[in-house]
Amino acid sequence: MKYDFDTRIDRRGTHSYKLDLMPKDLPEGTLPLWVADMEFACAPQILDAIRERLDHPILGYTLYGDPEYKKTVCGWFARRHGWTIDPDRLCYAPGVVPAIIAILHMLTSPGDGIVLQPPVFATFKEKIESNGRVAAQNPLQCENGNYTMELADLDDKMSRPENKILLICNPHNPVGRVWTKEELAAAAAICRKYDKWVLCDEVHADITRLGADYTPILTAAPDYADRLFVFTSASKAFNIASLMQANIVCPKEQVQPFRQWMADHFAIDGIVPLAREATAAAYTKGAEWLDACRAYLDGNIAYVEGFLREHLPEAVIAPCEGTYLMWVNFGAYFESDTEQERRLQQEARLYFEEGTVFGTGGSGWERINIACPRSMLEEAMQRLLSVCISK
Ligand SMILES: Cc1ncc(COP(=O)(O)O)c(C=O)c1O
Repeated sequence: MKYDFDTRIDRRGTHSYKLDLMPKDLPEGTLPLWVADMEFACAPQILDAIRERLDHPILGYTLYGDPEYKKTVCGWFARRHGWTIDPDRLCYAPGVVPAIIAILHMLTSPGDGIVLQPPVFATFKEKIESNGRVAAQNPLQCENGNYTMELADLDDKMSRPENKILLICNPHNPVGRVWTKEELAAAAAICRKYDKWVLCDEVHADITRLGADYTPILTAAPDYADRLFVFTSASKAFNIASLMQANIVCPKEQVQPFRQWMADHFAIDGIVPLAREATAAAYTKGAEWLDACRAYLDGNIAYVEGFLREHLPEAVIAPCEGTYLMWVNFGAYFESDTEQERRLQQEARLYFEEGTVFGTGGSGWERINIACPRSMLEEAMQRLLSVCISK
């Protein structure tokens, strides 16, 4: 293979969140299969673009989305996902989460409700609450690991005047669903019925199983573009999250207010040049690397699924249609969530993310980051087996 995903890269000394922020009481040698960050070397095309930029010795302030940059972002989504983005609707922020927080402040008041679909990316609830808003719940339905949206309950939640926004995660972290056109259109239709805002986090858009694509919500609900914000970034698919660059597609009348809000509150009105070059390289030269990476991830998922089916048949596996995060329920093998965490961490020396972190419906589940060399997963599966069978 042209790209190497097998080599285990030592991240010590790089101030890695994934490595250095694991709890201090974990045993030596614990495998970090948690936060959504890959153990793979960045695409060479991206590293070359960053190096090339550094050949110019001045790194002063840069423009807010120069026309060429806009073209690369729009071009990627048109070619890869059949989504034509109006370049005049693009806004920028140093990350998806900062952008979501800004929009919460722009559109809502303290005490207003934001509807979430748990189990979901834990930061949503955390930031909604730390910014004085209320995280309202529209839990996903789960049948034997197969997740769907609970639309009747969603209708009820959106009908309540205190709930102002629906926050969708597409593809969904952690349950791995890639929402269909019909599901997205149905959710948007409910919001339209009550005239509510929709924020759709599409940061995992580019990691779907090879041969399958995701549906950009704006292609499923084009007539709701004036009430929809979509959050995109090359950060997850190309593993450049530390460069902190998100591209947000806003309703036309919200473009200027969003930019103004970011400038007024954070004094942010430009793009970090290395982030710009990395994103542009990913979106103009990164497709081949990305597809090789997706093929490798598919192999990792098939390996874990095969292993669990053979050795731990009582584990419930949510079909991983998108993301590199597997969602597996090991509840049948442990007495309680507490015991599950203790044994996985202290005896198996595995650091997954415990399901309860993701809110309602997380008990018994683990989120496993499989974006790592296969040998690391093989080691993880053997360690897992050693604690699951010795109940
Ligand atoms: C669904 C989702 N949104 C946002 C983020 C973080 O985005 P950012 O680092 O751009 O704020 C993550 C990170 O894992 C995520 O899974």
